[in-house]
Amino acid sequence: MRTKNSEYRIGGVSCEALAEKMGTPLQIFDQEKIENRLQEYQTYFKSHRFETGVIYASKAFLCKAMLELLEEQNFCLDVVSGGELHCAKTSSFTMSRIFFHGNNKSQAELEQALEYGVGTVVLDNPEETELLISLAEEKRKRIDVLIRINPGIEAHTHKYIMTAHLDSKFGISIRKKEEIVNMIRSIEKSAFVNFEGIHAHIGSQIFDVQAFREEVRILAEFAEVLEKEDGIPVHTFDLGGGFAATYTAEDSPIPIQEACRAVLKACEEEADKRDLTLRRVFIEPGRSLIAEAGSTLYRIGFQKDTESKHYIFIDGGMADNIRPTLYQAKYNCDNISRLNEAKTVWTTVAGKCCESGDILIEDILLPPCENGDLLLVYTTGAYGYSMASNYNRLPRPAAVFVKNGNARCVLRRETFQDLEALECSDPVEI
Ligand code: LLP
Repeated sequence: MRTKNSEYRIGGVSCEALAEKMGTPLQIFDQEKIENRLQEYQTYFKSHRFETGVIYASKAFLCKAMLELLEEQNFCLDVVSGGELHCAKTSSFTMSRIFFHGNNKSQAELEQALEYGVGTVVLDNPEETELLISLAEEKRKRIDVLIRINPGIEAHTHKYIMTAHLDSKFGISIRKKEEIVNMIRSIEKSAFVNFEGIHAHIGSQIFDVQAFREEVRILAEFAEVLEKEDGIPVHTFDLGGGFAATYTAEDSPIPIQEACRAVLKACEEEADKRDLTLRRVFIEPGRSLIAEAGSTLYRIGFQKDTESKHYIFIDGGMADNIRPTLYQAKYNCDNISRLNEAKTVWTTVAGKCCESGDILIEDILLPPCENGDLLLVYTTGAYGYSMASNYNRLPRPAAVFVKNGNARCVLRRETFQDLEALECSDPVEI
């Protein structure tokens, strides 16, 4: 939001003041935007026909303040590691609403899930199925399971974030029905593990609602076969995430209401047509919930002109946002110290890391900048902080939630001492 004196505010808080108090790079989250998105999903992902649930994919961004917002709005949670599980367990989050994903969960992580009272494990392969059954029996802990099916859909997205082509490392190919039935038969014999249904996730940053309809059709077709040929009821579909967010003006994501309606309508129609026993439908948005609520504030340092480029250098880069380097992801930004000035210079925004690929934004029009100006990069809320590293021993930025003119720091800035705390010289007894 731009105010009269062109001071840029998020959630009623001046970014200038935040930079002064908290330093840069700074990850800023507009809490009200998060809350509204959560609310939207809860409002629109409803059906007269099914129980529905929205599962937040915590890999997009996770911290306890986020978990509190999710708990308040009755969200479920997708975790993929012991670390994410621990974060939920040490907050007030309801463990039975957790879905534990992952293609290589360790025995320790599965035990952790059983001990914490996780509601659902999403099984990825037969070996994991056997291990979970034996652990649940040993601990006498009940748990629901879904099986991750790979439906073989290629949603239009960057190849690194395409997870459902048939050679993907995730899930069991839909063509391996016998293997899937054998897994379910083992589960049926267990008094502690309960087969609930199937899960798929077809990719990320998907703009085409047709991809989700196709996913539903393929899962429904498969559920029909399981029910009619093998007598296995499939009560639950968990359709994964993948709904797109707006990074630049070129992106036009499916509006949430439309995406929710399309997915549920497809489920209703397929369930009717095939006479399925389907009772529950889940989706797992990550990016579309959190990306647009987040921005990163940097301070501009030196500048440089090459034969064909004008560079501005910022005090962060690929260590706090690897996405441009890894996926050629595009972002938009503003020099918020010069909001009223004309954008006349084609500028390339580069980070401070020792890697030539550390370019955050290539060729964007900005006003002429000065050392010390503040640069705000939009839509960094998803997979920015969560994929941050300490490359070049850069401490991870702080994260703040802002709302109604108030700011609270939810993740403090890492310090050199935090990094140093890992150092040791302990003999290892072999
Ligand atoms: N469910 C499952 C099983 C997933 O694997 C994912 C993402 C999601 C849900 C959430 O997807 P979303 O709604 O956020 O698209 N690091 C990449 C994205 C990797 C996504 C991996 N799985 C990026 O920065 O674009």
